[in-house]
Amino acid sequence: MRLAFASNKGGVGKTTLAINVASFQSQSRRMTLYDADPQRSSLHWSSIRESNSNLVVESFSEQDRYAKHAVFDCPPAIHHPDTLAVLRVADVVLIPVLPSPLDLWATLAVAEEIQRAQQDNKKLQAFLVLNQMESRSRLSRETKEVLESLEISALETTIQRRVVYRNAILDGRDVNQSGKGAIAASLEITNLIKEIQSKR
Ligand SMILES: Nc1ncnc2c1ncn2[C@@H]1O[C@H](COP(=O)(O)OP(=O)(O)OP(=O)(O)O)[C@@H](O)[C@H]1O
Ligand SMILES: [Mg+2]
Repeated sequence: MRLAFASNKGGVGKTTLAINVASFQSQSRRMTLYDADPQRSSLHWSSIRESNSNLVVESFSEQDRYAKHAVFDCPPAIHHPDTLAVLRVADVVLIPVLPSPLDLWATLAVAEEIQRAQQDNKKLQAFLVLNQMESRSRLSRETKEVLESLEISALETTIQRRVVYRNAILDGRDVNQSGKGAIAASLEITNLIKEIQSKR
């Protein structure tokens, strides 16, 4: 599966989720993480991590052939040529969103661009993934209403705001390599991967 993380704004969690999903999947197969983010955060993470020959992290460049099992970390603009290039080859695109109506409205432009991409790439599936959920708090009624009105449906799996996501990346790890304090985060990432696989 080729899985992309895209959005039309920065700081929603593309890199955080891309690194964790790619690193988790590399436990069972060889994976390539393509970094198309101009900040090159995934490559930076890769430079400080322990070596793992099952996960190759490469700078994204438009090319004919990408690995079959790949994760793409896109720039924070849906109309960016690299994002569009990724949408042409991905099987699934996940759009991380923060759980607020304002952030969800900002995904309207994303939905349009993804529908356009789906005309060329018929296999492309798209889902929102709610990131940085506050523990215990439920989605507000307004947020739920906006979610239901959007063209792209949200995955059931949600990701909470947890310090361990930040720290793991700073340490060159994924949350599965981050000890007992990261068990809940680890479970979220595992569930995210399972849910995406179940949709295919
Ligand atoms: N679930 C989470 N819990 C805690 N912190 C998080 C979580 N998700 C992301 N963050 C933090 O939020 C910030 C933005 O996340 P990240 O860099 O992954 O977003 P991005 O979408 O890749 O941003 P950009 O578009 O600028 O590349 C980072 O500091 C990251 O550590
Ligand atoms: Mg990023």
